[in-house]
Amino acid sequence: MTSAAHKPVLLDAVMGALSPSKGRSVVDGTFGAGGYSRAFLEAGADVIAIDRDPSAARFADPLAAAYPQTFHFAPGRFSDLQDHLAICGRTVCDGVALDLGVSSMQLDEAERGFSFMRDGPLDMRMGGDGRSAADLVNEDEPADLARIFWIYGEERASRRIAAFIARRRAEQPFTRTLDLAEVVEKAVGGRRGAPTHPATRVFQALRIAVNEELAELEAGLDAAERVLSEGGRLAVVTFHSLEDRIVKAFFTERAGRTPLGSRHLPQVQEGPAPSFSLLFNGARAPTDIEVFENPRARSAKLRAAERTAAPAWRVAA
Ligand SMILES: C[S@@+](CC[C@H](N)C(=O)[O-])C[C@H]1O[C@@H](n2cnc3c(N)ncnc32)[C@H](O)[C@@H]1O
Repeated sequence: MTSAAHKPVLLDAVMGALSPSKGRSVVDGTFGAGGYSRAFLEAGADVIAIDRDPSAARFADPLAAAYPQTFHFAPGRFSDLQDHLAICGRTVCDGVALDLGVSSMQLDEAERGFSFMRDGPLDMRMGGDGRSAADLVNEDEPADLARIFWIYGEERASRRIAAFIARRRAEQPFTRTLDLAEVVEKAVGGRRGAPTHPATRVFQALRIAVNEELAELEAGLDAAERVLSEGGRLAVVTFHSLEDRIVKAFFTERAGRTPLGSRHLPQVQEGPAPSFSLLFNGARAPTDIEVFENPRARSAKLRAAERTAAPAWRVAA
């Protein structure tokens, strides 16, 4: 069952980019509630669906029952895409979709600790393993916390917030989301009439750090490059500029569009042959109607490219 409340972001655009059909194999690297997977299956494709959150299995079970021959759910990370394919007896596929970040369900469930609006344990681990947000906030040096808030949250008051956190945790460690949100609000001096909650950027930064999301994305793009067959397509939906910058740089480079010489270093440098060709220039954004129906789609961007016959640029370690 796909959650009724959940509307997959940019679904039509992703379908247009990947063209799933009978006989084609598509990896849904971010299964979530299965909105994309269901659409790929209905189009006749074979689907290998990956999610690092074990609770996504509850949405996979009904699809496995409805499509026993063509659907396979693989719990784990999309950076391990090659291993997931190998378990299914495959080395290549015809499409990869990545719809990044957290799902609406993860955000809405206070117990997961992603929300600064709902009180819950300060956790934020998508896969339930590794260090939690509370571990980072209570144990990391203030300078390291400030760096996380600055780099992953683009938070201008990063040092001040880290100092407030350090002072408070010396008296009492953080365990709850709303407790942290209140301290951040105090550090930045209230809501300042801003349209977003003052803790938005700190929570985004902690989530990215806890789940190593940007390293996962880079490894996932490299993995997709290795497993896509010639003519196979990669579609990536991002939700903030840090993610989009990585995807844009990857596609620009792999499509051979990075100027390798410059005014100061004019000699032409030969790069490897382009491993992707762009399906369209720039990024696709949701329509006004889609944003109206699904406000979470507001900041979404889709980039997509088709695999050429050239070898992958980076070989797996
Ligand atoms: C935005 S939701 C995807 C929604 C999905 N497209 C749908 O239609 O329901 C992102 C999902 O990707 C998962 N995820 C995020 N990073 C991941 C990673 N590196 N590997 C595997 N799953 C990941 C999250 O647990 C979450 O369930």
